[in-house]
Amino acid sequence: GKGAAMVTAVAYRLATQHAERQRVLDALRLSREQLLEVKRRMGEEINRGLAKESHDQATVKMLPTYVRSTPDGTEHGDFLALDLGGTNFRVLLVRVRGGKRRSVEMHNKIYAIPQEAMQGTGEELFDHIVHCIADFLEYMGMKGASLPLGFTFSFPCHQNKLDQGILLKWTKGFKATGCEGEDVVSLLKDAIHRREEFDLDVVAVVNDTVGTMMTCGYEDPLCEVGLIVGTGTNACYMEEMQNVELVEGDEGRMCVNMEWGAFGDHGELDDFSTEFDRAVDDCATNPGKQRYEKMISGMYLGEIVRNILLEFTAKGLLFRGKLSERLKTRGIFETKFLSQIESDRLALRQVRSILQHLGLTSSTCDDSILVKEVCSVVARRAAQLCGAGLAAVVDKIRQNRNLSELKITVGVDGTLYKLHPHFSSIMHETVRDLAPQCEVTFLQSEDGSGKGAALITAVYLAGGPH
Ligand code: GLC
Repeated sequence: GKGAAMVTAVAYRLATQHAERQRVLDALRLSREQLLEVKRRMGEEINRGLAKESHDQATVKMLPTYVRSTPDGTEHGDFLALDLGGTNFRVLLVRVRGGKRRSVEMHNKIYAIPQEAMQGTGEELFDHIVHCIADFLEYMGMKGASLPLGFTFSFPCHQNKLDQGILLKWTKGFKATGCEGEDVVSLLKDAIHRREEFDLDVVAVVNDTVGTMMTCGYEDPLCEVGLIVGTGTNACYMEEMQNVELVEGDEGRMCVNMEWGAFGDHGELDDFSTEFDRAVDDCATNPGKQRYEKMISGMYLGEIVRNILLEFTAKGLLFRGKLSERLKTRGIFETKFLSQIESDRLALRQVRSILQHLGLTSSTCDDSILVKEVCSVVARRAAQLCGAGLAAVVDKIRQNRNLSELKITVGVDGTLYKLHPHFSSIMHETVRDLAPQCEVTFLQSEDGSGKGAALITAVYLAGGPH
């Protein structure tokens, strides 16, 4: 009768809606073949970035860091470190004790980088940094002390030596003017001189990946890769000098800052990216740049999720088809919400309360299920893409050494990796699957980037006259 027909109609509508939702989400699900292809292309870009003749055209820049060895435990001394480019800006005092009682003691203070400093002029940014250093020295009761300083500066820098870093391009939403193309050590020194209060000996400019590798290398000599999955994503590893064509010499190894976030900037990821990735890219401060990073790291995942939710809502599949102003607001989905929503112990009603907290009211139980599924698909894709890149790196190291099996440790840091309930395990599983000849151990670093800058400074100063 009529009732049955209605039930059929409803069932039919539900089935089409379900199919429609899955069709959208399927575009974000990558097959093993696709991931192997990502790994292969990353391997290709690694070689192009290393070779002199193709370097300029390569997206993955493979930047030499002038770090030639991991720590051996004999390092010692007191150092200052700066850490700029992650979630927080920090100034640190690092005491390294070598020998039998080796230990690293740290004191640090976190400072906010106001929006004006991030997006104003370079002078304002560096004046602010120096202001923070002055405050820290005062706070530690060390006014007037002149310690060697390691500067963790987590952006792509061209280096001709350890204590120089020419900023190639801002990433992660920074856009202070007058810095690109400049040596950040000079910018820092100029700001110190403007203040006329103290002097500092800047010994090393260090990428956070390198700092992380060094920190983990202090505990585990097999650690020759550094990985960050936080606000941004990037990796570094020890490459054979003979392959680092941008630097003279064939002996030994040098750590290379891959800047893998830029992978995809020449279209290498176009087959795997979606309209949502393009929407996120279009609205970023650096459209067209850091395409791989924009599919993986914390700064962007929430935006991908929001764009998918917008689409579902517009199609009437979510939030009763009501596009709220809140949902149209950029940046409402911080990474920590993604982590919370996917937390296993969370009941759906709590997902709903998170959504309410975000101002997304009027959500039903079905809405909560769908939002959680979207978060999970986006995070899984990020972890798998990251794993595919890492598989290329460890296999490259294995081939460099002509080994059929490689045992290696990867030092890791970053809020997404550490706080997300599933990211790390999916990433590990992907690496195991795509690089079966490598036995990879993951070591989380505690405060890796700042400590690492101090260790690099120590290694360098211990090396005698330069
Ligand atoms: C961005 C930066 C890179 C850094 C990474 C993680 O990709 O360009 O230098 O290592 O973020 O912070």
